[in-house]
Amino acid sequence: MLGILHILMTKLSVNINKIATIRNARGNNNPDVIKVALDCERFGAQGITVHPRPDERHIRTQDVYDLKKKICTEFNIEGYPNKRYLQLVKDTKPAQATLVPDPPGALTSNAGWDTKTNLLQLKDIVTELKSYGTRVSIFLNPDLEMVEFAKLTGTDRIELYTEPYASNYHLDKFKAIEPYILASKYATELNIGINAGHDLDLQNLKFLTDSIPQIKEVSIGHALICDALYFGLENTIQLYLQKLNSK
Ligand code: PXP
Repeated sequence: MLGILHILMTKLSVNINKIATIRNARGNNNPDVIKVALDCERFGAQGITVHPRPDERHIRTQDVYDLKKKICTEFNIEGYPNKRYLQLVKDTKPAQATLVPDPPGALTSNAGWDTKTNLLQLKDIVTELKSYGTRVSIFLNPDLEMVEFAKLTGTDRIELYTEPYASNYHLDKFKAIEPYILASKYATELNIGINAGHDLDLQNLKFLTDSIPQIKEVSIGHALICDALYFGLENTIQLYLQKLNSK
């Protein structure tokens, strides 16, 4: 029974990009990205996420190699699948590669893939990444057609882009969650695993995972790091875990 509960629990992967942003503001190694990642694990996070962008404005390529050697929970590397990204995944073989469609200079990911238009390209990339033993997740809007075509790429999982859910949560949370429930139901029928991320926080997280208990992992960065300024990192991670575990 405990085993089943464990499988059904949604994992928390902490996105540590913002830690690197603060470090990069000065020329030294403060805060130490590796130490923060290890502390997140020690405080209960079940994964660490990074998004090494080509301009290295937060996580640098070298951070990825260094983190891979040290962390022992699930390492998730997000990124646009250009040559550099594919090489990084090939070299480091993380637990998961999350493919995002944003061009290299984008401020942050702000839409999911068009899996129909990019089907052939994604199929090749998914095949390549899976050959390294890495699980693949494709960032997606909660759109049934996009889920259907995601299945054809061979991806293991999709990551539902939750910004629209988060921004409509306070207006009408039941309406905001509706497309996500439908997309998740369809993905589950197609045997695709579900992750979720973007703009999740202590207010909107529990309703999301209560409504869609099959979400396997949430990756959370911005709000969690902001909360840590007030509550401290250890307390903050505990608060997020409580939202995920209090079914
Ligand atoms: N998932 C993806 C694909 C992202 O690009 C990001 C932002 O880096 C996140 C999740 C985390 O979003 P947030 O920082 O808003 O929690």
